[in-house]
Amino acid sequence: MTMIKRNPSFELKKHLSSNWANNDAFLTAVFNALSISFPKGEKFFMNSVRAFKDEVNTEMSEEIRMFCLQEATHTREHIKYNKLLCELKGYDVEQLESIFAKKLEKSYSPKVDNKIRLAITTAMEHITASMGASMLKGNLVKSDNPVADMWKWHSLEEVEHKSVAYDVYKAVNGSDKVMRIVMKLALIDMIHANTRVAIKMLRHDRQFWKLSTFKSMFKFFFSKKGALRMNYADYKLFFNKDFNPQTHGNDLDLTPWKEKFGFTELILDK
Ligand SMILES: [Fe+2]
Ligand SMILES: [Fe+2]
Repeated sequence: MTMIKRNPSFELKKHLSSNWANNDAFLTAVFNALSISFPKGEKFFMNSVRAFKDEVNTEMSEEIRMFCLQEATHTREHIKYNKLLCELKGYDVEQLESIFAKKLEKSYSPKVDNKIRLAITTAMEHITASMGASMLKGNLVKSDNPVADMWKWHSLEEVEHKSVAYDVYKAVNGSDKVMRIVMKLALIDMIHANTRVAIKMLRHDRQFWKLSTFKSMFKFFFSKKGALRMNYADYKLFFNKDFNPQTHGNDLDLTPWKEKFGFTELILDK
């Protein structure tokens, strides 16, 4: 898998105050809430992988560097996104971020060692890569606008670096059992925090008590064509004994997305 450092910029202002995702208030709030989680979440991912950079070979340490470059660029763009979103909508960014920060606090506790933090990141990276692949296949968002494009760029890079945390975890003899336990807990925490933030946004926008919002919420969580059930098969693969993110999901052709967001600045070919 090739990792590339890109340096995109997206014209978000015109669309961020609208229901930019499929003209659907709930789906838009879910993605906007996810964006709020990224600056702190991705910092955690970078720290947990970087903690092992001196314990792996040169090639893997280069992968870690590229992983961090991609995640740092995501964070930079999501900080801009979040600032603009909160200005346009009147949300309190610190209050919303604090919901995710409280979840992360547990992972920073001294009782949790670096390997468990890396297991959490490995699990979360599988979720972001699976969601990313779904996004690029057009299963989650059908809209074509700069906000959707930003998510597609982020999705492309999540798919590109999907195996880095896992490879490092394996290289430092991380336990499969711990990784699987952590995956179950991480997913529950992520859905819980994300739904709370999305509901806060919908209430603030006076969009929560609407039939269309409830219909979309029901579809998202329970329908066969909803995001959760559509991604459930990918999620479950993580628990297979022979699971390897390097070979998982390779049916997706990234070429059109690389053409759209850039092939250049090729730094590492794995
Ligand atoms: Fe990311
Ligand atoms: Fe990532």
